Amino acid sequence: MMPCSQNKATRLLANQPPFLRVGTLTAMTSDRFYFRQLLSGRDFATDDSMAAQMANFVYLIGDRTTRDAVIVDPAYGVADILEILDRDDMNLSGVLASHYHSDHVGGSMMGHTIEGVRELLDLRGTKIHVQAEEAELVKKVTEVSDGDLHVHDPGDQIFVGEIPISLLHTPGHTPGSQCFLVEGTLVAGDTLFLEGCGRTDLPGSDAAAMYHSIHHTLSKVPDDTVLFPGHRYSFHSSATMGMTREMNYVFKPDSEEQWMMMFGQ
Ligand SMILES: [Fe+2]
Repeated sequence: MMPCSQNKATRLLANQPPFLRVGTLTAMTSDRFYFRQLLSGRDFATDDSMAAQMANFVYLIGDRTTRDAVIVDPAYGVADILEILDRDDMNLSGVLASHYHSDHVGGSMMGHTIEGVRELLDLRGTKIHVQAEEAELVKKVTEVSDGDLHVHDPGDQIFVGEIPISLLHTPGHTPGSQCFLVEGTLVAGDTLFLEGCGRTDLPGSDAAAMYHSIHHTLSKVPDDTVLFPGHRYSFHSSATMGMTREMNYVFKPDSEEQWMMMFGQ
């Protein structure tokens, strides 16, 4: 199956030191902050070999006081994901879509059909929060309608219960990719992994935009914020932004010119 991370840069930097010092860290949490990281094929959709192969992370984010929760990137076994939410006695109040790729929101991928937001809406009525530049792409891939979407501008903030979530527009992998900053965690979709970043050689990708997203937009995220990526492409499942900046080769280029030599076509 085609991975979502960069290949070219991985080859170019094959001699970089291994990613040794990243530990699995829990997010900085307040008592009322509800946060779960679920791995496809392991924590849900356990009988789906594609889910296991793709190693997608789905996130549940909520407010334990009001019992409201959102799901980030529901795909594969959406009934399983809702069951986990139900078991935790949390009520679904929305879906956040990091980007339109089928392994994050459902749809067709290389001859396979992946469950996602459309099937979830059949089970539980809610809104899907997308960046404006991703709205048409999400509709096309998942066949949801305008009325199913809540369309956002860069920098919008939403609330789950009384907990604010900032929506950071981080184009590059796709035009309307977004990351979610909440309570000392950064849920990054396919924009940034512990090692590498999302591919910039796909339709709709933009290597220069990715440089800006990683080196400018995400540079404002504090070092002690914990990065939670959209796939498990490393041994560890999370790392602080400080450690990630130190170890991830995507932070090595000092200029857009150097970046484009690594990631440009
Ligand atoms: Fe992707």
